Amino acid sequence: MRILRTIAEVRAAVGAARGAGASVGLVPTMGAFHEGHLSLMRQARAETGLVVVSLFVNPTQFAPNEDLSTYPRDEHRDAALAEAEGVDILFAPSPAEVYPDGFATNVHVAGLTEVLDGASRGAHHFDGVATVVTKLFGIVTPDVAYFGQKDAQQVLVVRRVVRDLDLAVRIEACPIVREPDGLAMSSRNVYLDADARARATALNRALDAAEAVLGSGEHGGERILASARAVLVDASIDAEYLELRDAETLQPVRVVERDALLLVAARVGAARLIDNHLLRAGGAEESRGEAAA
Ligand code: PAF
Repeated sequence: MRILRTIAEVRAAVGAARGAGASVGLVPTMGAFHEGHLSLMRQARAETGLVVVSLFVNPTQFAPNEDLSTYPRDEHRDAALAEAEGVDILFAPSPAEVYPDGFATNVHVAGLTEVLDGASRGAHHFDGVATVVTKLFGIVTPDVAYFGQKDAQQVLVVRRVVRDLDLAVRIEACPIVREPDGLAMSSRNVYLDADARARATALNRALDAAEAVLGSGEHGGERILASARAVLVDASIDAEYLELRDAETLQPVRVVERDALLLVAARVGAARLIDNHLLRAGGAEESRGEAAA
C-alpha cells in the first residue's frame, strides 16, 4: 500500500492503474477506522481493481463548537488496518493540499441538507461534506465510491450531488456495522465512558422498538415514534432528533406507506451519536441495515 500526500501523486497513480484497465474504488474517510470502515474497504476490494482510501479530517464540516481538535487521529494504526484489507492507496493530504490559499468554492445541496443533521449541526456541515466529497471525486475519479448507511442523510446528499452535477461515479451505501449489543460503530464511540457506553445501546433499542410496532401492523408515525421515544426516556437520553422521514426525499412521514428512515441523533455522555433503521413499508427484513462484523 502506498501512502500519498499530494493530488498530483494520486492522479498519476490512478491514471497508471486505469491505463492498465483497472476500475477505481474510493472509500472517503476521516480515519479512526473501525469495522464499519473496514467493511467498506472490503467491498471496494472485492469490486474494484484499484482501491483508494482517503483519510482527511475535513475541517469545513465541523462547527467551531464541535470536536475537530479532539477528533481521534492515529494515521499509523489506520494505515496498518487499511493495508491489511488490501487497500492500494491511502490518500492522506494536508489541509493546505485540499484547501489551498484562495479556495472559494462551496457545494451546497438545497432542501435535503436543511433538516436533521443539517438543522442540528448547521448548514456548514453538509456544505463541508459535499464540497470535500466533490473534490475527492475530482481527484480520484472513482468508478464507485463507498459510504456507510449509518450516515444516511450524507448518502442522500452525496447521491444528489452526483445526480445534479452529472458526476460519473456510482455510489454504494453499505450496511451499518454494529457492536454485538447493537450500538452502531462510530469513530466517536471512543468518547463514551462506561455509563454512557451502556446507555448508548438505547439508540438502536429504540429503533428496534419502533420497528416492532411497524411489524405489528401499526403504520402510524406517531405511534411508531412514541415507542422509540419511550426507550430513550428510559435510558435518560434526550434526543436531538428522533424522526420518521421518507427514505429518498427526507420529507416527514405521517403514515409509513413506502420505505422510510427512522433516524435518531443524541448526545450520550461526551459523544454525539447518530443511528437509523430503514423501515420497509412492506415489512421486509433487512431494515436494521446490519452487516455481520
Ligand atoms: O463520513 C465521513 O467520514 C465524512 O463525512 C466524509 C464522507 C469522509 C467527508 O469528509
